[in-house]
Amino acid sequence: MGEPRAFGSLLRRYRVDAELTQEALAERAGLSTRAISDLERGINRAPFQGTLERLIEALARSSEDLTDFVAGASRQRGPAPLSARAASTLPVPPTRLIGREKDQASVVHLLHREEVRLLTLVGTGGIGKTRLAIQVAAGMAAHFAGGAAFVPLAALADHRLVLQTIVSILGVRTPLRHSTTDGSVIHIEDWKESREQALVEALTDYLRERQLLLVLDNFEHLLPAVPLVAELLSRCPQLTVLVTSRAVLHVAAEHEFPVSPLALPDPKHLPDLEKLTRYDAVTLFIERARAVKPRFVVTNENASAVAEICARLDGLPLAIELAAARIRVLPPRALLQRLSSRLLTKGARDAPARQQTLRNSIDWSHSLLTQEEQRLFARLSVFAGGCTYEAAEAVCNPDGKLDVLEGLTSLVEKSLLREEESTADVPEEPRFLM
Ligand SMILES: Nc1ncnc2c1ncn2[C@@H]1O[C@H](COP(=O)(O)OP(=O)(O)OP(=O)(O)O)[C@@H](O)[C@H]1O
Ligand SMILES: [Mg+2]
Repeated sequence: MGEPRAFGSLLRRYRVDAELTQEALAERAGLSTRAISDLERGINRAPFQGTLERLIEALARSSEDLTDFVAGASRQRGPAPLSARAASTLPVPPTRLIGREKDQASVVHLLHREEVRLLTLVGTGGIGKTRLAIQVAAGMAAHFAGGAAFVPLAALADHRLVLQTIVSILGVRTPLRHSTTDGSVIHIEDWKESREQALVEALTDYLRERQLLLVLDNFEHLLPAVPLVAELLSRCPQLTVLVTSRAVLHVAAEHEFPVSPLALPDPKHLPDLEKLTRYDAVTLFIERARAVKPRFVVTNENASAVAEICARLDGLPLAIELAAARIRVLPPRALLQRLSSRLLTKGARDAPARQQTLRNSIDWSHSLLTQEEQRLFARLSVFAGGCTYEAAEAVCNPDGKLDVLEGLTSLVEKSLLREEESTADVPEEPRFLM
């Protein structure tokens, strides 16, 4: 069997030449013996790029050999996979979505507009950006011929991994060779350097042929990768990107959709029980409380405490979930009395670390600030009920070293401050609240 086995045969020949057993090569390359064996026998005929790189380094062959080796692996790769694969990447949340009907309709409406190719769902940590994005993508997948693909980015520590992550999740087959087909020899350094460009090209080729909704989830810590998104959009006319991020991306194509807290009752004007339990924040509280204490009900006795808890937590779904989990041992009134960030811990084990506690959630956003922004944010904490720009300038910038206007803007854009809508009393003086 000539060609299909070429890569496996070459690998075996190079290994034997290097006087290595399969075990020794596996150890050197940081792979399993099984992986080497499968490659040599042609059982695995499409090694990952990273695997190939490791083998190349472990075998330390000449550049000529390398050319054959890479070409051998490249030949064995099949055609691009079908887009059905992308469609199957949408996660299925473990709980039902509460409310958000209007938000969902607005986002869908925006994404239907031809000029909206990049939409960012922006908002503070735990407000429900990811939940909303999943819901929208699931509902709209059929509208895009290539479906909707979900790329979770929260766990990435480096913006340079965004490209590879998208490529892997979409299952884009990437060329293992230089695009030069003139038979010239490949050098390892060149090959590595051009790898990124090759990935961009492969991804662009893939996306150019497909009408796809690409969901990039949790982008806030990867902002240096924004130019990549811009490049994909400009080169792939059928691509639409839905981003979730605590910070806006700041790119020309971007449309922002601010995700707001869940609807809340006013604890000072409590509606009747039936109406109260229909507020989304209260419904979420009840559902999560029942998950840990099935007989939990809102009664005339605990209604005001429940409403107050939801209001004190600003209708933030993550905070409501963390608080409701405490109902197991604390009835609403006791919970309300003790409501503090210390209590808002113990997130679901399968939730990401930044959502295990409210403190972690804020820390995650805080770590994305510059030192100047962190300084301003710390100084702003003296204002219990928010402050105006003038007050912030006067109190937080006694030495005139901070650019307060720039800082406030950036803190709002990164969802650590929110701008209170002006009221009839103070029409033109916006207040900034934590
Ligand atoms: N409308 C909703 N109905 C039910 N649960 C919700 C809703 N919105 C959010 N949640 C729950 O609240 C928690 C936080 O939501 P989500 O992960 O979507 O927030 P996020 O804005 O993406 O946060 P982060 O900035 O940390 O990524 C999750 O456990 C999610 O399931
Ligand atoms: Mg999220």
